[in-house]
Amino acid sequence: MTVWRAPGRINLVGEHTDYNDGFVLPFALEVGCTAVVDTAPAGSDGWTVRSAQQPEPVVVRRSGLSSAPDVPEWSRYVLGALWLLTDRGVDVPALDIVVDSDVPTGAGLSSSAALVCSVARALDDHLDLGLDDDALFALTRDVENDAVGAPTGGMDQLVSLRGEAGHALFCDMRSHETRSVPLDLAAHGLTVLVTDTRAPHKHSDGEYGARRRGCEEAARLLGVPALRDVAAGDLDDALRRLDDDELRRYVRHVVTEDERVLSVVRLLDEGRLPEIGPALTASHVSMRDDFRITVPEVDTAVDALHEAGALGARMTGGGFGGCVIGLLPDESVGAAGDAVRAAFADAGFGEPSLFTAAPAPGAR
Ligand code: ADP
Ligand code: GAL
Repeated sequence: MTVWRAPGRINLVGEHTDYNDGFVLPFALEVGCTAVVDTAPAGSDGWTVRSAQQPEPVVVRRSGLSSAPDVPEWSRYVLGALWLLTDRGVDVPALDIVVDSDVPTGAGLSSSAALVCSVARALDDHLDLGLDDDALFALTRDVENDAVGAPTGGMDQLVSLRGEAGHALFCDMRSHETRSVPLDLAAHGLTVLVTDTRAPHKHSDGEYGARRRGCEEAARLLGVPALRDVAAGDLDDALRRLDDDELRRYVRHVVTEDERVLSVVRLLDEGRLPEIGPALTASHVSMRDDFRITVPEVDTAVDALHEAGALGARMTGGGFGGCVIGLLPDESVGAAGDAVRAAFADAGFGEPSLFTAAPAPGAR
């Protein structure tokens, strides 16, 4: 029997830059998913998957992705790894897999990456596959893209696998090189307060995919492999060359967001954590006004956090709901929570859920 646990994540800054080959700066959370992989008892020849968060187990015959059966979507995050490994020539034996997670699902904290990464690490270990860091990352990203069909960009899996306690993970999403950057909140008397707005977000459909296609179309029109290749100094020129106002907004968001990631990394490297707030807030404004992926609940939370003394605040994750982070002096955290709850009550929104977050280790 082999047990691995992989965390959910928060993204400090760098939103919708991953699938543009750009930069992101997430950190792993304490909450995570635990996967237990065991050889099936003698006589059973299939794969059985159970989740403590799902009423029924899923039992399937062994197969590759091309002949994968129709199964509940949640189980595809687990079976996807088995299907893809089979396609890649691994003779995956009969297995029993059990998962149990304390990451809230659909809140933008990457419960799905925690699930996929815990299972992939446990499979690698149990079957002695010897996958290196790059192969593990590719497997987990491909499960979400190819077996589940969510066109996400890989940031969540990368940080769930490689996060480090006390650090954010600076990721180059073209080379997939990563570097841990110190994020010592306690030393500066600072707290990251997370507001789960509970406004539902949904990735696989609609808006997320539309943003991704729009960015790819803009890169094609500009004659670059990806928007990462538009230098900040060439932004005005690039914007002049595009006729479509929507695409112009996407390009402006992605190019300026990459710059914000680099500026935050520089500040953190220099030990200037309290100065990163304005870049976080500018990121939110760019997501709200240019990329247009926020909703009233997240904008309300960001405004309330600022009024309560946040150094910076922004939505984190794919958008259209989910979570907001605020960087706050420790002594303002209680009042900030009250301010968010009061603003939600005034606006007639449902009760938000608030908690603090600090960088935890990746899969272990
Ligand atoms: P997020 O990753 O932000 O939480 P997603 O919509 O991308 O949101 O992924 C959530 C989905 O992941 C759930 O709907 C479910 O299919 C799957 N999932 C996550 N954790 C579990 C779990 N413990 N058991 C079963 N399915 C899970
Ligand atoms: C996520 C998605 C990531 C990334 C993010 C926006 O939830 O899974 O790959 O694109 O949205 O930065």
